[in-house]
Amino acid sequence: MKFQGKIAMVTGAAVGIGRAVALRLAEEGAGLLLLDINAEALSLVGEETKKLGAEVLTYLCDVSSEEQVNEVVADATAHFGRIDILVNNAALWRDRSRFAQSSLDLWKRYFDVNVMGVYLCTRAVIGGMLENAYGRIINVASVAGVYGNAKMAHYSATKGAVIAMTRALAKEVTDQGVLVNCVSPGSVSNSQNEDIDFFSPSELSFMGRTGTDRENANLILFLASDEASYISGQNIQIDGCRKKM
Ligand SMILES: NC(=O)c1ccc[n+]([C@@H]2O[C@H](COP(=O)([O-])OP(=O)(O)OC[C@H]3O[C@@H](n4cnc5c(N)ncnc54)[C@H](O)[C@@H]3O)[C@@H](O)[C@H]2O)c1
Repeated sequence: MKFQGKIAMVTGAAVGIGRAVALRLAEEGAGLLLLDINAEALSLVGEETKKLGAEVLTYLCDVSSEEQVNEVVADATAHFGRIDILVNNAALWRDRSRFAQSSLDLWKRYFDVNVMGVYLCTRAVIGGMLENAYGRIINVASVAGVYGNAKMAHYSATKGAVIAMTRALAKEVTDQGVLVNCVSPGSVSNSQNEDIDFFSPSELSFMGRTGTDRENANLILFLASDEASYISGQNIQIDGCRKKM
């Protein structure tokens, strides 16, 4: 079991990629703290991961709340002793709006969750990681942050910010044992589908299909593992060879 003895924090763990990461980490022996705002789905993932033998704490936590994030990290650190891995996965992405009509409220909500959420969760754990001279931080961005998606400037801008934050932070902490990377999915199958191997046809990739939650989790677990010991400051696209539209 690759993650035996490791403690991992996963945000947005209730569905989709976050849930797949939680399930795969549980299978590989990690202790887990799972955060989400969807109480019902979070509790189900808590049960699923416990059935796989993992020690799991679930937290109803809005990643854009400084107070809630700090409380969760303090509580989990008191319980587990430390946090080794952080997967910043929670984000908003479903709203579409033409730039000219997009509201300030929409932009602020997206930046609060997608950028400030990553900042707050990372800031809450990084002191402990630096003290232990060990950490793995994996941020989930998007191809939208690389190419830009029409009618999603608000979203694309947040993911571009996450990619830049990843690269900048890696330059500060990599020499102290904390490796920081980013994954940028293309189109992923509907995260409401419980089958983590589900995919559907897609015109947006040369593979002609969406990626699965498991495929995304596989890349995230690799970057979280000691096999990825010489990788930091990178943004790795996982998009089935994206058509750049
Ligand atoms: N699904 C895709 O096609 C796709 C493509 C590219 C990138 N991504 C990125 O992958 C990540 C996961 O997306 P997904 O589609 O698997 O999941 P999703 O969007 O369906 O779910 C994300 C989870 O985050 C939670 N969440 C939302 N706001 C939160 C907050 N403020 N605090 C805590 N939790 C919160 C939701 O309740 C949900 O459980 C996101 O960062 C997304 O931007 C997804």
